[in-house]
Amino acid sequence: MPAQRSSAPSPRAPLLFGGDYNPEQWDRSVWLEDIALMREAGVNIVTLGVFAWGLLEVDDDRWDWGWFDEVIGLLARSEISIDLATPTASPPIWLHREHPEILPVDRRGIRYHQGGRLQWCPSHPVWQRYASRVATRLGERYGQHPSVTMWHISNELGGGNRRCYCDQSTFAFRAWLERRYGTVDALNAAWGTAFWGHRYRRFDDVLAPLDSESAQNPSLVLDFDRFSSDALLDHFRMERDALRRAGVTAPITTNLMVAPQGSVADYASWTQDLDVIAIDHYTIADDPHRHRELSQVAARTRGLAPSRPWMVMEHSTSAVNWQVRNSPKAPGEMLRNSVQHVAHGADGALFFQWRASASGAEQFHSAMVPHAGAETRQWREVVELGSTLASISDVAGSLVERSEAAILTDDVSLWAWQAGQKPLNDHALHEDGRRWFEALSTHGFGPDVLPSHASLDGYRLIVLPSLYLVDDETVERVMRAADAGATVVVGALSGIADADNRIRLGGYPGAFRDFLGIFGEELHPLLRGETVLLGSGARVADLITRVRTTDAEIIDSYADGPLEGMPAITRRRFGRGQAWHVSGLIQDGLDAVVTTLAQAAGISRRLPATATVEAVRRVSADGSWLFLINHGTADEEIEAWGADAISGRPAEGLFHLDAGAVAVIRERRG
Ligand code: GAL
Repeated sequence: MPAQRSSAPSPRAPLLFGGDYNPEQWDRSVWLEDIALMREAGVNIVTLGVFAWGLLEVDDDRWDWGWFDEVIGLLARSEISIDLATPTASPPIWLHREHPEILPVDRRGIRYHQGGRLQWCPSHPVWQRYASRVATRLGERYGQHPSVTMWHISNELGGGNRRCYCDQSTFAFRAWLERRYGTVDALNAAWGTAFWGHRYRRFDDVLAPLDSESAQNPSLVLDFDRFSSDALLDHFRMERDALRRAGVTAPITTNLMVAPQGSVADYASWTQDLDVIAIDHYTIADDPHRHRELSQVAARTRGLAPSRPWMVMEHSTSAVNWQVRNSPKAPGEMLRNSVQHVAHGADGALFFQWRASASGAEQFHSAMVPHAGAETRQWREVVELGSTLASISDVAGSLVERSEAAILTDDVSLWAWQAGQKPLNDHALHEDGRRWFEALSTHGFGPDVLPSHASLDGYRLIVLPSLYLVDDETVERVMRAADAGATVVVGALSGIADADNRIRLGGYPGAFRDFLGIFGEELHPLLRGETVLLGSGARVADLITRVRTTDAEIIDSYADGPLEGMPAITRRRFGRGQAWHVSGLIQDGLDAVVTTLAQAAGISRRLPATATVEAVRRVSADGSWLFLINHGTADEEIEAWGADAISGRPAEGLFHLDAGAVAVIRERRG
């Protein structure tokens, strides 16, 4: 049954605020305190039941609903909405004892054991039977409950079972390949199996890319990643359809893990199935640029479905427990993080979890209510966040103002780079995109970050920083955008591979060589620590390309290093637009390049961002809101007109923003 989008939350709903609520870990007396504290903080929704399967289905088809009914009743009477989870992220111990065959198998061919979570193979029919039954029972029981306003399928699908190499997965993979290629000859051609003579006689010859001493075929590895993403999506659909059949009408979602380095699934192909886009995001304590990483993830999330608001299903109030050193967030950092998400289009900021656990695997993870209770800085900040969100609740339903600049990025392209050996095997492909995102953001262009299949209509500047794999359709669409007037920038590692993860031949970057009017002879990785200077003063690290122009103008050249004197940045006029190539990975000095490109594209700054103040605008038919987040240690004066919805202070041209502070300016029209 298709998802019922008509039942999505009303655009005027307030911003959602709450977190994962795991009352099964606590006595009833604590439940009452929980409710009182939730009301104090202004919590309006909790995610319930994520890991409760073993306490609901206590043995095969033997159910204990009493305690759950009671919790749901308590929340309902307190007017706290419920995002009800199907508990399939954590199968009960009895299920693994009865059916160990549902446990996933790793790439060494070794089966996992009971005791973790997401310990199941999405392609296993026995697993599917049990998962579908628990979803059905929950749907039948609570599908019409007025307080259950959203459904949450499983938890972080793929975060523990991203790839399963068991026999059932192998059978499903072969069927997937047969649907994709039709004949084994087509598969042999696509994967180039003449290499090492690895020709397949029939689909049954194909195995998942289990470990062997040497590298695997990158086309096989990439297709297995695609298959694994589809298998998880099929699992989502199976549970969703079970809920719908059981009478659920509320929106159904699941929490995605959008990650700059490549997500566990190709989320761009999932969004059509989700009524609400929801993500989990955790900052890394020892990353000094963690707030920028957060904005990039948030921008990527909104790029998955630009016409819909989204929500943060989980982030942390403070420290997590899974990094090497789990430092707490600095005072004010949680508020800034939550407001950053809302700035980028989230209509809610929820946390893992409501109350910090005393026992179990996550006993040192922060929560809204810390171990030390409510007489704490942590709790005071949670209450402050609740009131901040309430004061800006009218942004709910608005969208981030569309940018004139777009960055294309793609999980599949990132996986293609990670599959098999490459010229730089220690290079994180996404770093280039992060630098472009930062440069465009701090210059006030507020770039959109889009999957490669997104519409490019209306963008004046389109950057493909390291879009390693591009399919033919994307190549066409990018060229059409340039033809129509856009300035397109192709980075050094973009357009190298085709959809099958084969190299596009005839000069790098094969996908765009003629479009750019250049001919790349050789990719030239630099050694670790080695950098090369451009004439303009920009500095390149990691990779340069030996390029000659065939029909392009040289804008900048290498000023030293192995390719001294050769072209580094080129431009070609193309239709009504331009095609630029940047043949090295620029590490420092991208700011000047961005300024030049913005002039070429005819776009101007539209947000008062600085190196430390993040600025994002949300707009609706009713107005516009300028979000300002000062990540720095100095106060700043920012150009703004209107009034801050949080403090009530007017913004009459220059607005004073304290170090570490946030403001949401309801902008004056005209
Ligand atoms: C998430 C997960 C939560 C919790 C959290 C801890 O990935 O969904 O259940 O484990 O991490 O940071």
